[in-house]
Amino acid sequence: MKISDINTKTLPKDFVWGVATSSYQIEGGFESGDRGRCIWDDFCDQPGAISDGTRGGIGIDHIKRFKEDIGIMELMGIDSYRFSFSWPRVQKGGSSDFNLKGLEFYDSLIDSLLEKNITPNATLYHWDLPSELQAAGGWTNPKTTDLFGEYAAFLAKRFGDRIKFWAPINEPWCVTYLGNTIGHHAPGLRDLTATVKVAHQLVRAHALAAQAIKANSDGAKVGPVLNLADQVFTGEITPEIENDLNLVSGMVNNWWLQGMLNGKYPENVLDNFEKLTGIRPNEDEIPDTKYGRDWVGLNYYNAQIFQAGEGLEIFPGTKYLGGAWLGDEKTDIGWPWTPEGIRKTLHIINDFSPNIPIYVTENGACYNTNLDSNGHVYDSKREAYLARYINEVVKAKNEGVNLKGYYSWSLLDNFEWAFGYEMRFGMVHVNYENYARTLKQSGHEYSNLIKRHKNGS
Ligand code: BGC
Repeated sequence: MKISDINTKTLPKDFVWGVATSSYQIEGGFESGDRGRCIWDDFCDQPGAISDGTRGGIGIDHIKRFKEDIGIMELMGIDSYRFSFSWPRVQKGGSSDFNLKGLEFYDSLIDSLLEKNITPNATLYHWDLPSELQAAGGWTNPKTTDLFGEYAAFLAKRFGDRIKFWAPINEPWCVTYLGNTIGHHAPGLRDLTATVKVAHQLVRAHALAAQAIKANSDGAKVGPVLNLADQVFTGEITPEIENDLNLVSGMVNNWWLQGMLNGKYPENVLDNFEKLTGIRPNEDEIPDTKYGRDWVGLNYYNAQIFQAGEGLEIFPGTKYLGGAWLGDEKTDIGWPWTPEGIRKTLHIINDFSPNIPIYVTENGACYNTNLDSNGHVYDSKREAYLARYINEVVKAKNEGVNLKGYYSWSLLDNFEWAFGYEMRFGMVHVNYENYARTLKQSGHEYSNLIKRHKNGS
């Protein structure tokens, strides 16, 4: 299937087409100047932490080239740009004074977007925690949550006249489990007690930041951005397997949906956490959740496909599930194609909260296609992947899901966390020697889709 095969005529005129990035991945780390250090700067220092041995560095030189990047979005016809603020850039160390230079960078970014009629959708935390806060316990420490609330209040006051869409935290599941259970992400811990504490503090932080944003900016719309997924089992489902599947969906989906939207935790996850660590997070400590449920963002790449096997460390407490990244067709990073899963997962959210506006805030594919001899990038696999997934997204909308928009991950090739620069998700190719940008075939096709939808053809 091709992107040009997608019928967009059933989508409303105001359906939002976007692209997403994050601060550390495109701005880089402390080498990019005028900022404090963050946990990813420290993680990159650990031998073997980044598989290709690169570091965040200056990212893809976005700090200097942001106008060029916005120009590309304008050419593509992008309606909205989802980006994140770097906490250590706007507030070195994560507490006390704010950094004027950092704030001015985001002023220019936001103003330039608005000049081009591109709506900013801002995330406050896409994983670059100031190192000083990690030294004091990071997200296990309720003080970090309080400071996050202050940071949210400040940014809302400063930028709330121009930004209306806010997400406090990107993918709290990844922050919790990749960072603290298996140590694949910064801060690189393998500590179940930390895992449970972080899972609780992130729910608290979402609610607290939402309240702070609303108190400082009229008309702000705040929602969580979650990497929810559908769980699929390939064999016969015994009661033990069913229990484990419910536990996985509890840790991956319900903890965040119920916690962040309703201030309630799923009992099976609470029991599991208590069994594993002796800690049972207290729902009464979650601030009022009513400020942070104006919309839900879904980041979706693939289903979690299990077979019978030994429990996986990433899903602590499960005993009978193996697999998780099974599937036939896979992207270059090894993740399976499961297009129908994005539709199922959109229904999971819609069933949980029928009237809530939903955005796909990330979806995309890793293919490491390079320039050919004519300087073109024919990433036809990415185009085919996007075609299948976007088609399912349109189907979900036609089936009644309250879907308002779709953002592709990512606008640009960038620093892919523990894989460094070797894994490319961009619709725009970046040459890592001279930072030249080249729109790939997938980007051209996505742009054509947007233009086709806009003129109703
Ligand atoms: C993250 C991005 C990341 C992408 C691909 C998401 O989990 O939000 O930062 O690059 O997936 O791994």
